[in-house]
Amino acid sequence: MSLMRQENDFLQAKYGITAWCYDILDYPWERQYRRWRPELLKDIRGEVLEAGVGTGRNLKYYRPDVHLTGIDLSPAMLKRAKKRAGDAQCQVSLKQEDATLLSSIPSNQFDWIFSTFICCVMPDPLQPMAIAQFGRVLKPGGRFRLLEMIYSQNPKERKKQELFAPFVEKVFGARFDRNTLSYLHESDRLKVTNTTFLKKDIYLLMEGVCEK
Ligand SMILES: C[S@@+](CC[C@H](N)C(=O)[O-])C[C@H]1O[C@@H](n2cnc3c(N)ncnc32)[C@H](O)[C@@H]1O
Repeated sequence: MSLMRQENDFLQAKYGITAWCYDILDYPWERQYRRWRPELLKDIRGEVLEAGVGTGRNLKYYRPDVHLTGIDLSPAMLKRAKKRAGDAQCQVSLKQEDATLLSSIPSNQFDWIFSTFICCVMPDPLQPMAIAQFGRVLKPGGRFRLLEMIYSQNPKERKKQELFAPFVEKVFGARFDRNTLSYLHESDRLKVTNTTFLKKDIYLLMEGVCEK
């Protein structure tokens, strides 16, 4: 079995358990995220892929004119998202898919790719594969917006993060030391046009365009 399959089988099994109490465990952070989600989605339109849709926390904030495809590796998380799809104002199609393969998705399909917190979960060796797939399925000129969390440069903040890191990794498979931005910079199709921090130097928003 390839390393990639093993990593994803492990994540899928983890989320098979976490899904049952994901929204409760994540709640302390979600109180912050729910203020960001509508802002992050307000200018997104057209054919949209949300990668790692999770329990569907973003669904109700999409504009009514969006055609959304939401994918996730975990059937258990998708089951939760399906319940939330009823609150969406837009057309939603949810499917089990691996962001590193996107095997059911044709090329040049989407105007936007959006994702919150898949990058801190996807193991580093798999990230360039997912980024290559994002480049393949975006239309030329299509845009991406990805939010992740990283280690702060501030020693005090970092100490706090290090305290939480074992819990965050155990429960969500998430880490603060992924290198998504550098993989994006290496992409031959995706160009990063903007990076911003939504809070301190921890919540990193990466935005850009598909050039080819
Ligand atoms: C931390 S959760 C974030 C969920 C949601 N985006 C949110 O903001 O609440 C990460 C999600 O990414 C999914 N995921 C991880 N690796 C994936 C992959 N390779 N392909 C698709 N989904 C993946 C997990 O199953 C999980 O649902």
